[in-house]
Amino acid sequence: MARIVAGIGSSHVPAIGAAIDNNKTEEPYWRRVFSGFEKSQAWMRETKPDVAIIVYNDHASAFSVDLIPTFALGCAAEFPPADEGWGPRPVPVVQGYPALASHIAQSVILDEFDLTICNKMEVDHGLTVPMNLLFGKVDKNAHWPCPVIPLAVNVVMYPPPTGHRCFMLGRAIRKAVESYPEDLKVVIFGTGGLSHQISGPRAGLINSKWDKAFLDNLSNNPQKLVKIPHVDYMREAGAEGIEMVMWLIMRGALDDKVDEVYRFYTVPASNTAVGHIILANRPRASHRRTVPGAHKGSAARKAKAPARRAAARAKAAVVRGR
Ligand SMILES: [Fe+2]
Repeated sequence: MARIVAGIGSSHVPAIGAAIDNNKTEEPYWRRVFSGFEKSQAWMRETKPDVAIIVYNDHASAFSVDLIPTFALGCAAEFPPADEGWGPRPVPVVQGYPALASHIAQSVILDEFDLTICNKMEVDHGLTVPMNLLFGKVDKNAHWPCPVIPLAVNVVMYPPPTGHRCFMLGRAIRKAVESYPEDLKVVIFGTGGLSHQISGPRAGLINSKWDKAFLDNLSNNPQKLVKIPHVDYMREAGAEGIEMVMWLIMRGALDDKVDEVYRFYTVPASNTAVGHIILANRPRASHRRTVPGAHKGSAARKAKAPARRAAARAKAAVVRGR
């Protein structure tokens, strides 16, 4: 059986992709950003997912204003990088996982989430920048470390889906993955944000307090986030801060209780707050494969209880002896 072992939240700022492509990552301005992902890349190398589901939004690259699906699932065998105005990014073509993607489409649609199925789709920085941040720079002629199932979400034209709808779609995706018979280790990305606004009188808006509270609740109390209305994202996190609803698909696909493996936050990159988090599901009895940073389950804690009690008794004896 396949299982989602961890969720990754990451901003997908286009300027980060440009810094990678133009070899600027060691410049002081960018070093501050990229150093925050070094531990994450080590974690990813250790985790070695079999497949990644990446929730992102298209920025008028694959879809023009003529056609804007709310949720579009990539079921193709490959997804070429899109030309976003400066030619396609020099990154490898993203390999898909059609068998699992089709299974997810069937399961989720029969669960009454009306996905658009994409059998041909280009992917833009919204997907490839987080891949670089977590997998590192990959030569255009090489291969990304694992296949990817893209899930594009409309957050560019009103109305985007609600946070609650996103969270529940994540739940449906988890159910779909867990009903896939192949033994696969799956990670899911939620991308975009955090607070930013790229035009209008409030251009450059960043709200660190809001962002950090969002990360706290994402980790410990996601039900609080699903109730946030669109207008609050717009008011507090800027017009493009609405991208943060995509993180709730990732969170909905995880268990209620998760272990926060890592978090990073810095401002700014370009004119955007950069947020990043890794949340791991705790291993279940039926799943021996785990990920770095995930705590052992209650069974493992029980097994170690006698040793813990003996250590506590020894410590108490030392204290009493003083
Ligand atoms: Fe974006």
